[in-house]
Amino acid sequence: ARVDKGGHKHFMAKEIAEQPRVIGEAVRHYLSGDGNSVTLPGDGLDFTKIDRLTMVACGTAFFACLTAKYWFEQLARLPVEVDIASEFRYREPPIPGGTVALFVSQSGETADTLAALRYCEGKADKIISVVNVPESSIARESDLALPILAGTEIGVASTKAFTCQLTVLLMLALKAAEQRGTITPERQADLLSALRALPSSLNTALEQNSAIARAAHKLAEAKDVLFLGRGLMYPMALEGALKLKEISYIHAEAYASGELKHGPIALIDKIMPVVVLAPRDTLFDKTVSNMQEVLARGGKVMLITDDAGAAEAAGEAWQTIVMPHVDPVLTPILYAVPAQLLAYHTAVAKGTDVDQPRNLAKSVTVE
Ligand code: G6P
Repeated sequence: ARVDKGGHKHFMAKEIAEQPRVIGEAVRHYLSGDGNSVTLPGDGLDFTKIDRLTMVACGTAFFACLTAKYWFEQLARLPVEVDIASEFRYREPPIPGGTVALFVSQSGETADTLAALRYCEGKADKIISVVNVPESSIARESDLALPILAGTEIGVASTKAFTCQLTVLLMLALKAAEQRGTITPERQADLLSALRALPSSLNTALEQNSAIARAAHKLAEAKDVLFLGRGLMYPMALEGALKLKEISYIHAEAYASGELKHGPIALIDKIMPVVVLAPRDTLFDKTVSNMQEVLARGGKVMLITDDAGAAEAAGEAWQTIVMPHVDPVLTPILYAVPAQLLAYHTAVAKGTDVDQPRNLAKSVTVE
């Protein structure tokens, strides 16, 4: 079917706006009939029989894997390794028995990811994939393919596919936690109900569109941007920096907040914006204290938080974007929205080709 921009200026804007709907569909697809559990297609997977998970991908899908590592480790107490496909395939790592190999790919055709999958054939106990294109090579060559149901994604910079990957990976981690007995039924019910409420939280986040566009107008003047986050917000910082580079051509990099002292603090001046991702979670106070370190050196902070108090405490912040509150476990799916909108509006302000950024391809099927 032909896909049009549905009244939006760019496919990317349309795909960002579609997220509440497609994520709602993905959640419903993987919820059991009674809504109390997660169901997987076919014979599913027995997480009590595995010792470790090895996740491999490229680009934005790699950051979805990095995020999921926190979920599988914390919720399911399952050891996880995450790798970039082009490194994994040539390093030829040993794959001990009891390993499940999981490949994440929007297109299902990325050459390095497919080669990494083939390397695992006959070595891993099981090969699973999380894909957007169900008839793709990666899906066909997996023992179990989990569709993300994002629909066609045209914008080269991935948006809705990323958040749908996160949604499916979180639900898979919840299934693993249930099977391994590492989550209480109450906590599981809480998280499933937060997942059901995600479309409405995402709509609230999308209402910040104009505020983010105003902030982006100022960001468009920057030459370099630093993104900081801790825990689940560290991979989100990496993804925010990637989005900004890809479409606005502004140099951006991300650090785990705790690494600020080990290098990037030397870059802090009155010119370079520092985007701080700080939802109210258990690491919040630590992230806020890193933000204070930046402010104390005259740095320009753009704070993204759901904590009105912190927003106030950061009175000296250059810009503040306020998010709705969600369970901390779900923050990556929600904070992807301001990260995407920030990159999008910065690119629009700079007049770059948002949907077809220079030198990039939607699907990298050659090495
Ligand atoms: C390209 C795209 C990215 C994507 C990456 C991996 O670099 O521009 O948006 O994240 O490939 O693609 P895949 O289809 O495997 O998710």
